[in-house]
This record gives sequence, C-alpha cells and structure tokens, in this order.
Amino acid sequence: MAHPQAKAALRQPESYRESRLPPGVQALHRPAALGRAVELAFLRWEKRDLAPTERFWRDFGFHVASSTPDRLVARAAGDAPCIALAERGPANRFVGPAFSMSGDTDLAAYVQRLGATWLPPETIPGGGRGVELHDPSGRAVWLLQAQARAEAMPMRPAISSQTNTTRHSPRVNRTVRTPIEPAQVAKLGHLVLQTVDFAGMARWYLRVLGLIPTDVQYLPDGSPNLAFCRLDLGEEPADHHTLVLVGGLEEKYEHSAYEVTDLDALGQGQQVLRAAGHSHLWGIGRHLLGSQLFDYWRDPDGFEHEHYTDGDLFTAEHETEYSPLTFGGIWAWGDDAPASMKPKKDLRTLMRVLGLLRRRSLTVGRLKLLGAALDAPARPWL
Ligand SMILES: [Fe+2]
Repeated sequence: MAHPQAKAALRQPESYRESRLPPGVQALHRPAALGRAVELAFLRWEKRDLAPTERFWRDFGFHVASSTPDRLVARAAGDAPCIALAERGPANRFVGPAFSMSGDTDLAAYVQRLGATWLPPETIPGGGRGVELHDPSGRAVWLLQAQARAEAMPMRPAISSQTNTTRHSPRVNRTVRTPIEPAQVAKLGHLVLQTVDFAGMARWYLRVLGLIPTDVQYLPDGSPNLAFCRLDLGEEPADHHTLVLVGGLEEKYEHSAYEVTDLDALGQGQQVLRAAGHSHLWGIGRHLLGSQLFDYWRDPDGFEHEHYTDGDLFTAEHETEYSPLTFGGIWAWGDDAPASMKPKKDLRTLMRVLGLLRRRSLTVGRLKLLGAALDAPARPWL
C-alpha cells in the first residue's frame, strides 16, 4: 500500500505569476537599478593551504591557470579569464563574488553613492577596471568592466542530441562511450547565499546588479524568503538564476554551481571525484526551480560545489513566478536532500538564534514560519 502522505507529496507544487498573486502573498520589491550585471565573473576564496583546493579544483573540472604558494587562479573552458581565485590567508572562507557589469554601467556612481572604492587593476585577473563595495552583511563584492577575454578551450560535444527515445532514434550502429575524465566545467553558473536579512539583501543586490527575480518563494505568512535571480540580458536568454538569496539563520555561502556539457559529463565526473576520494554530498537529481540536472560535492574545506547541466533559460520579459517555500521544492526527483542543507539544530545554532532575537534581527514569528517551511518532510517515504 502506498504511504498515506505519498500522494500529497507527489503533487507538483503550485506557482503563481506576479500579475496573479493570491491574496496575502507579497511581491518582492524591485528597486531602480544602479547598473546591470552581465556575468558572474568569478568567486574569491581565502584558504590556509592552497594545495588541497588546487587538487579539488582539477578533479572537479576547473583548469588551473596559475598556481603559486600564495595565489591560485582557475578558469573554465569558456572565454572567461578566471572563475575562481584563492589566496593564502589565516582562514578558510569564501571572500565574495565578482560580477562583470555592462559597458553602459557607470562604476563611478557606486563610488559616489555607495562608498565603493576603486580596485588596483593588477588585482583583477584579466585586467580592466573595477570597484569593491560591501553588501549589507559586510561581504566584499567586486564590480568589473573591460576584463580581457581568454580563448575558449575545446570541449567534448554534448551527446544529448544523439539520445535515442521512443519516437526519435538518431543513434544506430553506434554506442555511448563517453570518456572517464573530470567533468570539464564550461562556466561559473551561480552563487547561493544564505542571509538573516532576506529583504535587505534582496533590495541591495537587485539595486546594485539590476537582477530580475525569476522565482520567488514565500513563507506561510506570504512574505518572500528566497529569490532565484537572473541577469538582465534583454532579449538574450539568461540562466534561470545567477544569484540566489535565501533567508535563514546566518550569513553563509551556501554553494556555487558550474555548468558541464551534458548528463554523461555529470556522471563520469562523479566517478572521477569518487575515485579521487572527494566528499560527495547530493545527486544526481533534477532541480525543480531552474530544472538543472545536478550533482553536489564538498571541497576539502567543506564548501559546497555543484555540477549542473540542462538548466532553464529566460529572456528579460519573462514574468516572475511565486511559490510557497518548502524544503522538498528544491528538487523534482532524486535522493532526499541531505540534512546538512538545512540549518543545524545544535547548541551553536541555538546560541546564534538567541543572539538574533536579542538584536531583533529575527522575530519568534519568522523563526516559526521558517521552521514550518523547512521541517515538513519533503519525501515522506524516503
Ligand atoms: Fe544550485
């Protein structure tokens, strides 16, 4: 007999266009943009020891462009000169993201209006100019222009067009034999950040980067608590999300994601990472919002990295969608998401929550709503 809750959990979650929001659901405010991001350029890291990070990056499918005892630069197969930059320092931490801004964005406006400072050009991989500013959580964000592009590297063609289906059989007298090699990363796709101040962080990032919310998820009281945001590339299709903000109990890097060529790259890449002894987290499965096929790994310092392929693309005109926030709504199918993707219920978290309540950064009501959204069993039969 089927599990009694199975039928309910197997229902597709509801979603609503912004122009048809149900009563009580609040639209996410979109402030006027100061400029327009056109690419998530690279992520900056600080690591006590660069060697384990370099090993993981290579096995994960990055190309290490330069490696010294103090600085590690990696690129992907695409034409971005850098997707990850790690510098040796006293802590293992995510420092912040760098975004490429459109040519008509006025970087000086960020200096005048938001207190940004100009970056020394030699600090930017690929050169050009840029400014550094700080988001409301204090994290450094770089905005760049005129970085030199690198020459794209050859990649194995995707075999998806050769997939035999019940109606279409392009592959006859031929086999599927994809190489056993790291999943070559084509580009840096997206960054997910957890924040205590969802509304403030969403307002800041939408204003600074001119992002478009693709999917917004709300708590049972109708207040937005998660936003999948895409780049405004006009009529050019953009990834479903390039930056994701999720309201939670701390300011935290959640994960970053890297696009690979097809499902077989995801699978062969998993074999290579497993054989090399890296720490697997979750996958292979398919996400719901964004639709990507995914596979999650931890780097040697515990930071989550995602391989993905086959994600949704939208032009700027596509309307924002809203849906209730549930833990199970993160993925369409695949293994249950690991508990480590939720806030830990330990003494450290309890102390942090008490601190947030005391500082009035969090209310008891919002804490209960968060718990209701994330604690409901996602797949009751698992
Ligand atoms: Fe992701």
